[in-house]
Amino acid sequence: MIGKITGIGTALPKYVMDNEELSTMVETTDQWIRERTGIRTRHIARNGETTTSLAIEAAKEALKAAKIEAASLDLIIVSTNTAIDLMPNTACEIQKEIGAFVATCFDITVACSGFVFAYNTVLAYMRANMCKKALIVGSETLSNVVDWSDRGSCILFGDGAGAVVLEEDDSENFKPLMSSMGAKGEALTLTNSFGKARDFMAMDGSEVFKFAVASVPKIIEELLMINQFEKEKIKYYVLHQANKRIIDAVAKRLKEPLDKFPTNVENYGNTSSASIPILLKEMDEKNSFKKGDYIVMVGFGAGLSLGATILKW
Ligand code: UT7
Repeated sequence: MIGKITGIGTALPKYVMDNEELSTMVETTDQWIRERTGIRTRHIARNGETTTSLAIEAAKEALKAAKIEAASLDLIIVSTNTAIDLMPNTACEIQKEIGAFVATCFDITVACSGFVFAYNTVLAYMRANMCKKALIVGSETLSNVVDWSDRGSCILFGDGAGAVVLEEDDSENFKPLMSSMGAKGEALTLTNSFGKARDFMAMDGSEVFKFAVASVPKIIEELLMINQFEKEKIKYYVLHQANKRIIDAVAKRLKEPLDKFPTNVENYGNTSSASIPILLKEMDEKNSFKKGDYIVMVGFGAGLSLGATILKW
């Protein structure tokens, strides 16, 4: 038994900030941002758009696409590092709003690896016969925690949410991989001072960049090896959308063609745990996936953390 994605939803804030606007805020240029990251625009939450409201919008769309009732969900996991409140958690807020009365609800904070960590956690619940239908939501309003005076990080991030419904399915059973390196945690931090001061994200960009370029190909190779799966059978590698240069470098190290690495970081920036489901939905809308396609998903980021999984469409 393994899960299958049966519905995807997304929610993006209306306001779009381009690189020109950023260059009026910090010492940067459109050209630098495009060349070093591939990013042109990002969506920024405003006028009452929150991590919770975006999560609910994406969740409702995913349920509609999956054609299931919220009451049939038995698990909701939200991945977010920008929850409005710690109690009740965002998953419980979604539960209340959509009427998923019997679902077990919790949030996880694994930043950019969070969607894949949540996905792999749902698979573990399914294998343990603890869940048949689950909702996973990645939702972030990073604009609330970005240091808008730090050109080394503020150019990178955007807001948004993505959700998938995962249903139990008789299919192949792949072993996923996850790892955490707490010793390297200083590379990407977000303090929580409980309202005493404004909390900011701080990032050693080149440290995270080097980690990603070295570790993502390695975890993919290991994932394929433990599942005795050949690269040739993978249709797409759907990686966390952090920086186009990271994606290019991973493709090169794996000696795989770039067209197996879809990307939309250009339009949204790095939306952390929302980036993979937002990309999945765009790909699905373009009919890029055919039934039976194998897709590798990889998340990487704060922790430092890494998560990888093979899914069958
Ligand atoms: O989702 C997981 C979390 N985060 C990531 O995956 C981020 C990974 N890291 C990155 O994407 C890249 O490291 C950045 C895009 C953040 C930075 O790119 P970089 O090529 O690593 O630049 P750098 O930090 O090594 O800086 C190179 C130069 C420096 O100037 P000097 O010292 O060479 O004179 C920086 O001061 O570029 C300068 N710089 C900028 N210049 C114009 C840094 N940020 C900017 C900027 N505009 N926005």
